[in-house]
Amino acid sequence: MSKIRLGVNIDHVATVRNARGDTYPSPLRAALIAQKNKADSITIHLREDRRHIKDSDLAEIKKKLKIPLNLEIAATQEMLKIASKNKPPYICIVPERRKEITTEGGLNLNYKKKFLKILIIRLKKNKSRVSLFIEPSLKDIINSKKLGADCVEIHTGKFCNLINENKKYKKEFIRIKKAVILGNSLGLEVHAGHGLTYKSAKILSKISGIKEFNIGHFLIGESIFSGLGKTIKKFRKIIN
Ligand code: PXP
Repeated sequence: MSKIRLGVNIDHVATVRNARGDTYPSPLRAALIAQKNKADSITIHLREDRRHIKDSDLAEIKKKLKIPLNLEIAATQEMLKIASKNKPPYICIVPERRKEITTEGGLNLNYKKKFLKILIIRLKKNKSRVSLFIEPSLKDIINSKKLGADCVEIHTGKFCNLINENKKYKKEFIRIKKAVILGNSLGLEVHAGHGLTYKSAKILSKISGIKEFNIGHFLIGESIFSGLGKTIKKFRKIIN
């Protein structure tokens, strides 16, 4: 079985930084630590409202990073302009609703279909690998192929919620597996992301054909807990 790549989403390092409106903690530093620790790519989502990652983060990370940068963008003219200027090696087109806390579901591929098609062509011309963030729906897999995407990223939010709530997840697992099989058979590279934890990632890693996981919130959350004790000890040493 081929190795599943790990894309590390560092948006929430920016969330913590922005809580103080300052420069600490730096998303670039997080990206470089992830790179040093064998992350396969770094994911950032430049939202329309810039609630976490800012334009300056994108430019700085793109300049300093050696592993591929995966930029998540909404299908808008503004984001096309930014992506064309920065030319990240990977792009994932995601839905965006201003009031949502996080990306709540996959793209509606029938909405702004014409623009989506043009957007994909333009991004591919810049040599970016283009992925569409979709629900594990067979129809959306077929439509992603028709739209010309290189990859699809399956939204695993529903699956992860079922696991977190100790509910039956087999039906959703099979739904994802069927989407992966169809995607692969159409020549699409299939990725998965949203809400993944150690437990849900382990279960999904059993589906052969998923080539990449993109993980953010849990990974950054766990990093706080794994580093908290060490940081307290360091402060103790410094102040005494
Ligand atoms: N993949 C995509 C396309 C996303 O938009 C996100 C964040 O919303 C993730 C993966 C990571 O999700 P999480 O932060 O829940 O791990």
